Amino acid sequence: MIDFELTENQIAVRDMARDVTEKVIKPTIQEYDRAHKPHPDLLPAMAKANLLGFCIPEKYGGLGTDYISLGLACEELEYGDTSARVVLSVHIGLYALPVLTWANEEQKQKYLVPIARGEKIGSFGLTEPAAGSDAVGIQTTAVKGGNDWILNGEKMWISLADLADYFLIFAWTDLDKKAKRDHSGLSAFIVEREWQGVSTGKIPGKLGVRAGNTGFIAMQDVRVPGENLVYEEGQGFKVAMFCLDQGRYTVAAGSCGLIKACRDASVEYAKQRETFQKPIADHQLVKQMIANMEAGYEYSSYLWMKAGWLKNQGMRSTKATSLAKWIACREAEKAAADAVQVFGAYGFSDEYPVERFYRNSKGASIYEGTREIHTLMQADYALGYRVDKQLERDLPKTDQ
Ligand code: CAA
Repeated sequence: MIDFELTENQIAVRDMARDVTEKVIKPTIQEYDRAHKPHPDLLPAMAKANLLGFCIPEKYGGLGTDYISLGLACEELEYGDTSARVVLSVHIGLYALPVLTWANEEQKQKYLVPIARGEKIGSFGLTEPAAGSDAVGIQTTAVKGGNDWILNGEKMWISLADLADYFLIFAWTDLDKKAKRDHSGLSAFIVEREWQGVSTGKIPGKLGVRAGNTGFIAMQDVRVPGENLVYEEGQGFKVAMFCLDQGRYTVAAGSCGLIKACRDASVEYAKQRETFQKPIADHQLVKQMIANMEAGYEYSSYLWMKAGWLKNQGMRSTKATSLAKWIACREAEKAAADAVQVFGAYGFSDEYPVERFYRNSKGASIYEGTREIHTLMQADYALGYRVDKQLERDLPKTDQ
């Protein structure tokens, strides 16, 4: 049975994340968002508060927290700014949890322990200039060269591209299967930023998440040691989809933080701003927008919590995660658009944060599975065209 009461550990973790939001993000984020620059104090503050080791067992240097705690932290961080939640989505959801689940012991010692301790940052490279939703459309190749693999290709829209030390990269290891678009020709590799042939850069001019680092990774004849292949050759598509199950979960929970930020800002403003000789909070059409934010927050929260509960039980959560991500992002977009409306002309300027919330809300309906991909997935589950089989590996039980 799903229990919505938080445990002491979950409350403690939520409060740690809330502290980072209140003390580090909220006071100065506007400045960095305007400058299109990552907040310089964010990663050190997250590392100091042990927020970079979520769900990773203590024996690998992590916090050992459960999956609901990860969601709670995402919600708290995105209450401050989406760029802060993105760090957890990428570092934990798309990198650390997949490495914990699919990598071998040697790889975990080398590529997970420093990540969980917050000494190194991890990221994920699936998307390419011409392949996002169509994951088997990627062009990056890995060809055998002695004991190594030689990687060539370009990854695009990569969060933390300029900041990460290790990347989980997906490439075709079977070129015949690439031509046939057979996903069993794809493999996953851990690639280090410092290796020859790896270069990264920032994508300028983003609509939102301006304080987040988003860029590209170019790989030219990068020699990747054979021991850096993750799991088995030809299993990369499954690893990639598994990564997305965790990343999408963090996006869903984070979006609830964004809805809450929109609601709280709107409530505060609506009570003090007057029109027609009364606070706008007393106008029914403003109430309607605030009520929608309230409802959107509540039901989106239940959806990510259900996905988190499944993860805590060791049960596959692909369907629940996709639903939670789709709905929470949709509600966040609506809440942010309405928050701007509640603020009227002031919402149209960056004097108030709702303008940033509005711009930030758009990306989540595109990254980690567009709203169209999630809509189709949910239709296919309902129609019986898509069924989640038991996976050969799934998230391990956490320490708490
Ligand atoms: N975990 C593990 N294995 C999985 C899985 C999962 N969640 N989902 C599927 N698989 C396995 C299946 O069991 C199947 O295995 P077998 O062949 O052995 O049966 C195999 O993978 C193929 O599965 P499907 O038939 O379900 O795959 P599909 O072709 O129907 O998938 C799709 C289609 C749903 C559209 C999928 O391609 C998809 O999700 N696309 C969206 C990709 C995406 O989200 N891209 C953006 C990511 S990154 C990003 O946004 C940037 C960033 O930096 C944040």
